[in-house]
Amino acid sequence: MNQKATILNEGDKLIQEKASVKQYVECAAGDFCTLLIDEAFTVVVKGIKEKDQTGEKVRMLAGDIARTLGKNKVEAATVNATVLQELFPEINIDKAVTAFAEGWHLGQYQFSPYKSEKNHHHTVLHVTGDGGTDTLLEKGKIRAEATAFSRDLMNEIPSALNPSTFPGVLEEAFSGTDVQINVWDKKMLEQNEMNGVLTVGRGSIHEPAFVEMTYRGDDTKPLIALVGKGVTFDTGGISLKKGRDLSSMRHDMGGAAAVAGAMKLLSASKAKVNVVALIPIVENMPDSKSVIPGDVIRYKNGLHVQVGNTDAEGRLILADGLIRAGELQAEYVVDIATLTGAIIGALGTKLAGVFGDEQLSWEMKQIGDENGDFNWPMPLVDAYESYIASDYADFNNTTSKVEGASIVAGLFLRRFVPENVKWLHVDMAGRMRSEEGGYYATSATGFGARLLADFTEKVSK
Ligand code: BES
Ligand code: ZN
Ligand code: ZN
Repeated sequence: MNQKATILNEGDKLIQEKASVKQYVECAAGDFCTLLIDEAFTVVVKGIKEKDQTGEKVRMLAGDIARTLGKNKVEAATVNATVLQELFPEINIDKAVTAFAEGWHLGQYQFSPYKSEKNHHHTVLHVTGDGGTDTLLEKGKIRAEATAFSRDLMNEIPSALNPSTFPGVLEEAFSGTDVQINVWDKKMLEQNEMNGVLTVGRGSIHEPAFVEMTYRGDDTKPLIALVGKGVTFDTGGISLKKGRDLSSMRHDMGGAAAVAGAMKLLSASKAKVNVVALIPIVENMPDSKSVIPGDVIRYKNGLHVQVGNTDAEGRLILADGLIRAGELQAEYVVDIATLTGAIIGALGTKLAGVFGDEQLSWEMKQIGDENGDFNWPMPLVDAYESYIASDYADFNNTTSKVEGASIVAGLFLRRFVPENVKWLHVDMAGRMRSEEGGYYATSATGFGARLLADFTEKVSK
């Protein structure tokens, strides 16, 4: 085992080496704190084990350091790339510095519009030493900003972010960028027969919407469609959820946030890709106008779906997005959604599940292993097709069986995947929220922005 014990300095202001890498920082308020360099040294990092020689460890470390320095109101800090390389000899130095900057900025992320006492201080990051450049810091910052954008969208409350306001928030966020944005209102949805979105959105005071965003960094590359579930609040509808605090259901547009974050990242880094984001937006509410269990939706592609359960609404609106991806002749389609509680039972809260094209899902896993959006391939088992049989429609959006619910949801979506496209479905329900630690803050994770952007770049190579 490579147990490198690096005590970087023992200067005057060095507090003292602590056993846990979680508590290696202490700085007097207002100090200019130099980090990992030899003057007024303040941070000690000891022993990065071989198994921790990963980009994620660099990001987590940077996040912890940055949050602690920020809390101590330190103005600026400098990371020494030579030392970083010593700590992480297995990692390419460019990647390490980028990861450090990414973790740094995300570690200091806070969502505070509704905290009366604002206590936010951002510690600026500089770099010194061999191989440390401002360009690498900037690259990491761009990745962090895109992820933070997803987090902001996810964390926002439903009275501020809902189907009436969400499209405008996206228009504003992408104004002045290379991303073109088209917003479809209810009338346009009717003209385009987006009947899943229209049906699920019926119970809300906010009319549903559909947002299409295009970024053409290179027209010669295959068109990749990213479809994100944008349920700004999921009460379950008439099949009402009950018995617990539903506040976290404001994150049910996590898929939409992931797609929007990916577009930010791709456009800000001028990626040579050809990508379209498709975002159906609804609020799932119970009302006398709401869709009633047992109703049937007729989709634009001719399929009829029995709405067995109005709480299985994500798949109903994603179906319209998948149909649209076919109209645009996308070659690759990735949908992403906080789709099923069952995926949390299967994989816990550290991983998303990936369904669809088998080879591509292993590539997706590898991308997540590197960039921190961890995921694992899941099977789409044909034997469960019978679970969504309907007595009087082509099929049902749910099943009376409780088992295999995430797979069943994937099978439902597969029926809407256009022919001859390579398709993946990412169920990120488990990765919706996180506890504070490393570069994560309590609440929304911003999962998927980096995953979808890196996937898009990889398949466009
Ligand atoms: N948004 C939920 C899934 C979810 C649950 C996300 C918990 C994050 C945490 C989704 O719309 C839903 O309600 N799914 C149902 C499907 C069922 C009715 C077939 C579920 O998972 O229970
Ligand atoms: Zn639901
Ligand atoms: Zn939902």
